[in-house]
Amino acid sequence: MINMARPVMEKEEIDAVIRVMETGILAHGPEVVAFEEEFARYCGSKYGAAVSSGTSAIHLALAALGVGPGDEVITTSFSFIASATPILFLGAKPVFTDIDPRTFNMDPESLKGKITERTKAIIPVHLYGQSANMKRILKIASDIPVLEDCAQAHGATHDDEKVGSMGKAGMFSFYPTKNMTTGEGGMVISEDEEFIESIRMLRNHGQSARYDHHKVGYNLRMTSISAAIGRVQLTKLEKRNLARIKNARLLDEGLEDVEGILTPYVEPGNGHVYHQYTIKVDQDRDGLSGFLAEKGIGNKVFYPTTIPSSPAMKKVSTGTYPRAEEATKQALSLPVHPSLSEDEIAKVVDTVKLARKGV
Ligand SMILES: Cc1ncc(COP(=O)(O)O)c(C=O)c1O
Repeated sequence: MINMARPVMEKEEIDAVIRVMETGILAHGPEVVAFEEEFARYCGSKYGAAVSSGTSAIHLALAALGVGPGDEVITTSFSFIASATPILFLGAKPVFTDIDPRTFNMDPESLKGKITERTKAIIPVHLYGQSANMKRILKIASDIPVLEDCAQAHGATHDDEKVGSMGKAGMFSFYPTKNMTTGEGGMVISEDEEFIESIRMLRNHGQSARYDHHKVGYNLRMTSISAAIGRVQLTKLEKRNLARIKNARLLDEGLEDVEGILTPYVEPGNGHVYHQYTIKVDQDRDGLSGFLAEKGIGNKVFYPTTIPSSPAMKKVSTGTYPRAEEATKQALSLPVHPSLSEDEIAKVVDTVKLARKGV
């Protein structure tokens, strides 16, 4: 079986975990502080607040902005649901945009029509490892804070700037299948020290010092063990992203002439890091998916429904998102992770070709 993802834990990660366990500081500690500094610096930003997941990163970034009932937050209709659920946790209303069908990312034109005086924040998602069109989004947003959902795009760039460093904040996930992992974990990065301090307080029971509770906070901290894994994984991120890019090039070359399939479009100025390699299949996507699975080629549909059409969103969402709907029927992600061999990539290509012969 050629899998869609293979989280790799090497001796360095294992040694780092043992080192931290031997210190006895297992929850928040110096390891977390070091990871925050190193990750923020890598992304070209000043400050980081490490948290328990990507979802908590989005939740706390919104909470630190003071988002609450009566507010609207705009995000894309085509992403993992966690891009939108934190808006609901805070009692605000998610408002969805349609997507650019070439990149699957937030369509800036659609964003224009969604801004109202109640819009408190905009959350573009850098889906599959490719930056949304930040230049246009930031221009349209004007002084509305833009919070970048970078859960799938560690190290991706837009006009040579790293994702997460262009808006008010960037929120990352370190789930095991992501381009780098801490087991579970997340981070908010920002240039705004006060904003990051507010997130640090909120993640830790609203405390500024022990038992000095200034806010009604949560326990959404990152453990020292996770941070230790993250620090090692960060040193390998560039190398692993390059391996993803190389695999994507091989898939591009192999699949470019296959009828009925469109290989991923990379917007000029973007540095794509291929969290996913997502093709568009114009006919019988599910048939191709089933055929590949039968032949031992992992593949996945990210995502089979739009966020607004999920039952969880039924009460709040209105509107239609035709290009996102189309993407739910056409998008198919193929294996691209850094541990694949050239032979495995060739097998993916050959099997897709074989399947398409029968269409
Ligand atoms: C686009 C996007 N946003 C947010 C999240 C949430 O991250 P986590 O699973 O770490 O909570 C994910 C995770 O899959 C994601 O893909």
